[in-house]
Amino acid sequence: MKTFTTLLYLFCSALVCSAKSPHILFIVADDLGWNDVGFHNPDMITPNIDKLAYSGLILNQAYVQPVCTPSRNSWMSGYFPFRSGLQHLVILPQQATCAPLNRTYLPQELKKLGYATHMIGKWHLGFCSWDCTPTYRGFDSFFGYYNGAEDYYSHVIQKGKDFRDDKKPTEADGEYSAHVYAKRARQIINDHNATQPMFLYLPFQSVHEPIQVPKKYEDMYSQIKNDGRRKYSGMVTAMDEAIGNITQALKERDMFDDTLILFTADNGGWPTYSGNNYPLRGSKTTVFEGGTRAASFITGAGINAKNETYNGMLHAVDWMPTLVAAAGGSISNADMDGMDQWTNIQTRTPSKRTEFVYNLDDMNPPLTGHAAIRYGNYKLIQGYPGMYPGWYKPATVEVNQEIEELPYERYDEKTWAGQNMLFDLDADPNEHNDLSREHPDIVKKMSDMIQEYKRKMVPANYPANDPKSDPSNYDGFWTPGWC
Ligand SMILES: *[C@@H]1O[C@H](CO)[C@@H](O)[C@H](O)[C@H]1NC(C)=O
Ligand SMILES: *[C@@H]1O[C@H](CO)[C@@H](O)[C@H](O)[C@H]1NC(C)=O
Ligand SMILES: *[C@@H]1O[C@H](CO)[C@@H](O)[C@H](O)[C@H]1NC(C)=O
Ligand SMILES: *[C@@H]1O[C@H](CO)[C@@H](O)[C@H](O)[C@H]1NC(C)=O
Repeated sequence: MKTFTTLLYLFCSALVCSAKSPHILFIVADDLGWNDVGFHNPDMITPNIDKLAYSGLILNQAYVQPVCTPSRNSWMSGYFPFRSGLQHLVILPQQATCAPLNRTYLPQELKKLGYATHMIGKWHLGFCSWDCTPTYRGFDSFFGYYNGAEDYYSHVIQKGKDFRDDKKPTEADGEYSAHVYAKRARQIINDHNATQPMFLYLPFQSVHEPIQVPKKYEDMYSQIKNDGRRKYSGMVTAMDEAIGNITQALKERDMFDDTLILFTADNGGWPTYSGNNYPLRGSKTTVFEGGTRAASFITGAGINAKNETYNGMLHAVDWMPTLVAAAGGSISNADMDGMDQWTNIQTRTPSKRTEFVYNLDDMNPPLTGHAAIRYGNYKLIQGYPGMYPGWYKPATVEVNQEIEELPYERYDEKTWAGQNMLFDLDADPNEHNDLSREHPDIVKKMSDMIQEYKRKMVPANYPANDPKSDPSNYDGFWTPGWC
């Protein structure tokens, strides 16, 4: 046994692994576009994010789902949304449903490895029953909200308050959410006994609509004449400051060097709300690269890199087994879609992944239905790719004309029904050249692959609104207990 341990130790030190489980900080930026971080766009003021990104590995092909709920389902469970009934848009506040309860979530796996587990921010995986909420899905503490969006100061969405400390409804104190969440993260870090590994899942409210930010941050972009883009840019910078404060807290507690930090958007930016994915094509809600290729990096404990990029193909479902591996464990569930990419990332060897499903949405085909998959450098899209399918530069003028003047038929579902689009993303990462007519053989092969995937599909679970959800039944708070 002793020899084995010694061997293991030598083996590990020769590579890049460490015996100690790292602290893990998993930061999500909501609706952040590809072109909305300083490490992709020098016009953005994100010094803290950039410093972290440049001290680690910028992930060039880290894919997510086109909208919020499905990405979060992927991270927490390691299962694709189309295998979870979550492939159609997002869970609405009044829908009596939540992400499948029969799956073991990432924090539950990390608890088995001895981690303290905390969550701060946006859940959006359903809350109609307490079983659906973070408190019952592996988090020792939860501070944040259950729905997809709300006012940044009052925490109100659709006339209901949505803000909790564990299960306790909490009144707003008027402070901007980036500051509120940074303060809580600092408190958790300060109170943590660092001999135990800590997992902090930090899905920020920033920078989802509504477009709100303290004036101080907006004023840092006074050269931008477009009101929405100026405020949105300020929102990104406020979040960046929060991240700076949190890394500072880790440093003060001597935890920083032992922390693995993953940063990712949950989907692309939304040009209608001033997010920007240029030069990538499309928007949040589309299966184009602009909706699904996340601004992302990984840095810190176990990542022995400095200002490098990793071009291997990663999907949101991979983070669950990958972070468990980083923590020293392993997932043995052959049914799971996620792949453990930890060693591949650490050693910059090619990704284990050669294909993935962007989405399979079976609701009301052929109109809203779509399918999109990746196979090597090829991507096939069938049907309606989603709203705002063009290329949009950041708005600098007062009226964002490119968006305002987009002819309706360009995002009318009927125009796309039954269509195939094929792209070679190596040669054409911005999806300008549809090759479907030139390569009918590849279209055929990938259509067959889509049919295979569809055999594993769970029908979209998208129930009608349930009046029992009404916050007026619960002292004005969106509250579990009605499903
Ligand atoms: C878990 O739930 C999903 C979605 O409802 C279902 O498709 C799957 O069969 C369930 N898995 C097991 C092992 O019961
Ligand atoms: C970061 O910390 C500074 C100093 O405590 C504070 O003034 C600032 O408001 C904090 N910013 C955020 C976004 O938390
Ligand atoms: C932290 O935990 C370790 C191991 O359980 C214990 O020995 C130590 O006293 C704790 N430190 C503090 C400050 O509580
Ligand atoms: C990181 O690398 C890029 C290109 O390789 C370079 O432009 C940039 O200055 C570098 N940044 C830092 C902080 O090293």
